[in-house]
Parts: sequence; structure tokens; C-alpha cells
Amino acid sequence: MTLNVRALSVNYGREQVLHSLEMDLQSGALTSIVGPNGSGKSTLIKAICGDLPYNGSIQLNGAEVAQAKPWELAAMRGVLPQASTLAFPFTAIEVVRIGLTSGLGSEHEGRAQAALARVGLQSYAHRYYQELSGGEQQRVQLARVLAQIWEPTTADGPRWLILDEPVSSLDIAHQLQVMTIARTFARAGGGVVAVMHDLNLTGMFADHVLVMTEGGILAEGHPTEAMTDSILSRAYGCRLQVNKTPVGMAPFVLPHSAQAAIDMGG
Ligand SMILES: Nc1ncnc2c1ncn2[C@@H]1O[C@H](COP(=O)(O)OP(=O)(O)OP(=O)(O)O)[C@@H](O)[C@H]1O
Ligand SMILES: [Mg+2]
Repeated sequence: MTLNVRALSVNYGREQVLHSLEMDLQSGALTSIVGPNGSGKSTLIKAICGDLPYNGSIQLNGAEVAQAKPWELAAMRGVLPQASTLAFPFTAIEVVRIGLTSGLGSEHEGRAQAALARVGLQSYAHRYYQELSGGEQQRVQLARVLAQIWEPTTADGPRWLILDEPVSSLDIAHQLQVMTIARTFARAGGGVVAVMHDLNLTGMFADHVLVMTEGGILAEGHPTEAMTDSILSRAYGCRLQVNKTPVGMAPFVLPHSAQAAIDMGG
């Protein structure tokens, strides 16, 4: 099953942010969306999740997102937003249970604990969320999403794990842990869409890469096709050099020189 986007446009007031965007994503694969700040990645994710009005079409497993009921969407996809704030003093396990109630139902209580264990926080269940570090909070939020869509596939089709910068607060070991969780979900038949700023993790883990600029897709394909010197340098507006890792030949990206930051006024 697939995620199909046709002629997608999104406006904030009079400002058009996505411009007639088209894409076709397959389940069973990890798709990474990369691109500069403000290029529309989070807007695209919000539209796919049914959180923004849009023109055009977004079909998730054949259902038009704008017409789907909230509980139908909750059964089909889980979303890790770029930023999550919490106004109440919930414990970690209570945050994860929010995922259970919006997805599978509270009879799956054991899954809340299992989801915390999946992100390595089993002993943090009764700690207050606000008192966790930034990276721990990000992993609790991922556990909430995993509890919601625990099985990557169902009789009704694949589930979709939609992640907006899932590793932005994580140390390198936990970055690898979270990317491995995402890849395992995809290998088991689920769909994964992950917005990423880390191009090297993208090169290592993604099956498919979309490079976004100015509300559209500049390039897409396997990391070796979409992550080239010229595509990435054009996308980010600085000179980047793509090399290959000795093991696995995954692309990795280095700035051409420290000059790049000065070119961008940094
Ligand atoms: N709620 C909003 N109201 C008005 N404009 C918005 C709103 N949210 C985002 N924008 C604008 O839309 C554009 C795309 O924003 P978006 O958050 O999708 O970018 P992004 O690619 O996710 O960037 P980043 O890498 O910084 O997270 C930006 O110019 C942003 O200023
Ligand atoms: Mg964003």
C-alpha cells in the first residue's frame, strides 16, 4: 500500500507554502525528507497527518486524508511532531498511554511498558515527563507513537510511522537506536516517513530520499541518486561534498570548507 500525494498545495493565510507537490511513497521502506529550514517539510507532514487543510489529494492506504475520521487516521498512522509540549504533570508511562487510548485501546496496557522498553526507558515509567532531559522526552514521545501503532501491518493494510526530526535531541547512540527502530518498522512492512536534518544518518538508513526546497521536491530517489554534490549544494545553498562510507558505501556529506557558513551570512 502507498501514500500518494497529488497537486498538493497548502497556504498559511495568503502565503502559499507547498506548491502543487506530487509524491508516491511505498510501505515497507524508510523514506527520509530532507531540505533547508522553512522549505515546507513540517507543513507536508502536518498535511499528510490530517492536521492542516489542503488543496489537492493525499491518499493514505487509498483513503483521502481530509475525509477520514480522526479515529480512522489514528488506527493508520502515528505521528511524532517536531516539538511536543505538555501542560500537565504526567509521568512517562502516562504520556505513552495517550498513544494507547488514541490507537489500540487501553486493553493493551502491557504495550505501554513494552514501548518504553523499546526506547530504553523502562525504568523511567514513573518519572515526571517535565523532569526528563530533552532527549529522554523525545524518546518518550516516540514510545507514545509506537504504543499507538505497535503492529507495522494489520488486516486493513500497513501502518505509517511519521516522524518530524526524530533524532534532533539525541546523542549518537540513541540516534542509531531510534533510526534502527524506524528501519525495523519498515522492514516488517510498515511505512516510515522521517524528516531529517542529519544527512549522514539519512544516507545510512533511508531507502528513499526526498529533497525539498521552497515548498516543492527538488530531487528524489535512492540516497545514492538523490544525495549528490550538486543536488545537496543547490538545496542548502552551500558547497557540500558527498563521499561514500568504506563499509556499506552509504553517502556521507561534508561541508566543502568552513567558508560555507560565511557565504550564508552565518
Ligand atoms: N503556522 C504557520 N503560520 C504561518 N506560516 C507558517 C506556519 N508554520 C510554518 N510557516 C511558514 O511556512 C514555511 C514552511 O515551514 P515548515 O515548518 O514547514 O518548514 P520546515 O521545512 O519544517 O523547516 P525546519 O527545518 O526549520 O523545521 C516557513 O516559511 C514558515 O515560516
Ligand atoms: Mg520542520
